[in-house]
Amino acid sequence: MQLRVRSITYLAEDINGYELVDPRGRDLPRFAAGAHLDLRVAGYLRQYSLYNDPAERRRYCIAVLRERNSRGGSQYLHERLRAGDRIDVSPPRSDFPLDTTALRHLLIAGGIGIAPIMSMVADLRRWRAEFKVHYCTRSPGKTAFHRELQSLAADGRLCFYHDGGDPARGLDIAAALRAPQLGTHLYYCGPGPMMEASAEAAREWPPENVHYQYFTAAPKRIVDKDRPFRVKLAKSGREYDIPVGETIVEVLRRHGIAVRTSCELGYCGSCLTRYIDGKPDHRDQVLEANGRERYVLICCSRSKTPVLELDL
Ligand code: FES
Repeated sequence: MQLRVRSITYLAEDINGYELVDPRGRDLPRFAAGAHLDLRVAGYLRQYSLYNDPAERRRYCIAVLRERNSRGGSQYLHERLRAGDRIDVSPPRSDFPLDTTALRHLLIAGGIGIAPIMSMVADLRRWRAEFKVHYCTRSPGKTAFHRELQSLAADGRLCFYHDGGDPARGLDIAAALRAPQLGTHLYYCGPGPMMEASAEAAREWPPENVHYQYFTAAPKRIVDKDRPFRVKLAKSGREYDIPVGETIVEVLRRHGIAVRTSCELGYCGSCLTRYIDGKPDHRDQVLEANGRERYVLICCSRSKTPVLELDL
């Protein structure tokens, strides 16, 4: 779809909100709480969670953090995109939905991870569901929706944590997730260290009650261990060297081979590729153990064997 940027709003330090509408004012496809859009920006596809109420049909709202090491996506949105511009957008996709059978919901948001949680909160309030939100940021100035969430904080359904950059001063995730109650579902979205701490603390939870969404890649594994390897493309028989510091996708692209990607960080699944021979060194956050027996995400994974043969 091509949508028009109706407004750009300052939400917090380095975080803007973008309101996207149909240029002719028509209703947009429905979305579920926790859904995201792919935006085509500066030659990349970028994923952003919707933060507005899923009951709204006339707009999609996304929050964008200006990333320090932006490859162009967030920088472009912050510096170049203007109200009135048009932008290419995919229909909403939902891979972080609320579980409607839950007795209660426990939600943890870190930084810009509040975006999908905001749309969930809209649904949960409408359903009069029992829920509690833990919202962690560095400071009030870096807290998007600080004012909008005051009423939830006042009635005890939301707690703010400002750690000033020191996680030890923020939410004690292990304590918050200790002793899961029967029927409680957990949702978390935030930066890598928060995701890791939540995953660790939720080990005792029933896996079907735990839902999460990465918006950045988990910290990359130690690069010292990386070794060069070769990929062989089964259909053409061609082989390419993958040096340390370059991904399979980057090398193939450099040789003019088109590969479908989106996040290029190992969390969206767009670059899923079947492998025929060799043993991948999986680095994604998408594939389950059985998927890893046949598939590899080539934007981030490497190879444990000298040659990895792909079904390409
Ligand atoms: S492009 Fe997103 S997982 Fe590879």
